[in-house]
Amino acid sequence: MNKHFTIAIDGPAGAGKSTVAKAVAKTLGAIYLDTGAMYRAVGLYMVRNGVDPKDSETVAARAHEPKVDIRYVDGTQHVYLCGEDVSQAIRENEVSAAASGVSAVPLVREILVARQQEIAREQPVVMDGRDIGTKVLPDATLKIFLTAAAEERARRRYDELTAKGQTVSFDQLLKEINQRDWDDSHRAASPLTQAEDAVLVDSSHMTIEEVTEYILSLARERMDNA
Ligand code: DC
Repeated sequence: MNKHFTIAIDGPAGAGKSTVAKAVAKTLGAIYLDTGAMYRAVGLYMVRNGVDPKDSETVAARAHEPKVDIRYVDGTQHVYLCGEDVSQAIRENEVSAAASGVSAVPLVREILVARQQEIAREQPVVMDGRDIGTKVLPDATLKIFLTAAAEERARRRYDELTAKGQTVSFDQLLKEINQRDWDDSHRAASPLTQAEDAVLVDSSHMTIEEVTEYILSLARERMDNA
């Protein structure tokens, strides 16, 4: 049991977890830990070293090589891979698929989960991912399962990328989202599932502000009753 409060936010890609988790952490004075970034860093390491992220045997054999560090610069999370700041590099589209590949390898999960639990022991934390409520923080003060319809998540991603001037196909984005949902929820090791005691929040028809306020109200209620 952690002596600090911990908030677990799980859910599929594109449901708004990171934006909401960041806002909740800031309001409550906790750190925000984006666990997906850690899987992305391991995926990037494998790609850079010529390892196919879906080749689970080789990924497992080399799982101890990537040194993944999380540091906070002016309150913002930075991810370091073997000393290099890879916070930007891990956002490349190619790294999303690599992260999904390595996240299916039990040893990779074991190493990263241990690190995530260590971070939660040190300070209050809001963590987002896929297995936070089920595996990383089974005793979390509050567990949220944040989801949204796949079409809505694809639309948000489409708006985000076109606003950046990128030309993307909505149908392609929707296909990628459906593929990642399937991969994340059908792998053998810690598949994406809602913890029994998690509160289900469907953000399809809610703004980010509404979701954040709702989660904050639940968090305050839990902390008052703790
Ligand atoms: O949240 P994200 O898209 O940055 O996550 C990248 C990949 O890592 C995604 O395919 C799911 C996986 N992941 C995981 O298995 N467990 C976590 N706690 C976080 C992410």
